[in-house]
Amino acid sequence: MKSQTPHPNSAYPLRLQKFLSRAGVASRRGSENLMTEGRVSVNGHIVRELGIKIDPVSDIVAVDGKKVRPDGGAVSLMLNKPTGVLTTMSDPHGRPTVAQLIADAGYPALFPVGRLDQDTSGLLLFTTDGELGYKLTHPKYELFKTYQAHVKGQPNKAALRALQQGMQLEDGMTAPAKIHYSKGVLTLSIREGRNRQVRRMCEAIGHPVQKLHRTHFGPLALGTLREGNWRHLEPDEVSALVLELKET
Ligand code: URA
Repeated sequence: MKSQTPHPNSAYPLRLQKFLSRAGVASRRGSENLMTEGRVSVNGHIVRELGIKIDPVSDIVAVDGKKVRPDGGAVSLMLNKPTGVLTTMSDPHGRPTVAQLIADAGYPALFPVGRLDQDTSGLLLFTTDGELGYKLTHPKYELFKTYQAHVKGQPNKAALRALQQGMQLEDGMTAPAKIHYSKGVLTLSIREGRNRQVRRMCEAIGHPVQKLHRTHFGPLALGTLREGNWRHLEPDEVSALVLELKET
């Protein structure tokens, strides 16, 4: 907001709404709304004009009076991954990747937390926080991931029990899972994250997966997020994730 010599990083000064979205406060549009609602201040002065630029190093930005951490603040978001898209940040063969779907978020440092198969849709988490990302996929923390699997045929009680209690796969026994079956859709909550695990579990009971969709990752729910869209995690969602890592 002050006039000053340009920051050595040419990305600065930064539009205030871009700064807010980069700091993980809200999406770009959400940040603009916060500004027009008079909830954003720069150096103690409420700023409603959307064109204003700030220097994240020297200007103090607050939302509802609470200081926003400058670029150092980690950013986490969730994507509703469509099928046919690879969980990778670049593909030498030019196939569609999740990187293309989150490019407009404007954080090159985002990386996916774990992965979903090309043919699987649903909740895929991204973060710029290396430690958080590492822990969320570490077997030690064992977060539940919930999938809806449309399967071929109708599994009987014994098959459902096998899924639930643990079953032998080529890379060892699976851990107990939460299972629910209704009208062709198996809902499975598993703590592990082995390669193609849900598909292999369903294959092993003789009911191959025809369609697979992840609805939950630990305490996070995909909700109504549209396919191919992403959104920032709310601060309380990040807190819930962190709490989950502490409790287990
Ligand atoms: N299990 C699978 O089989 N595929 C996924 O993408 C995720 C879990």
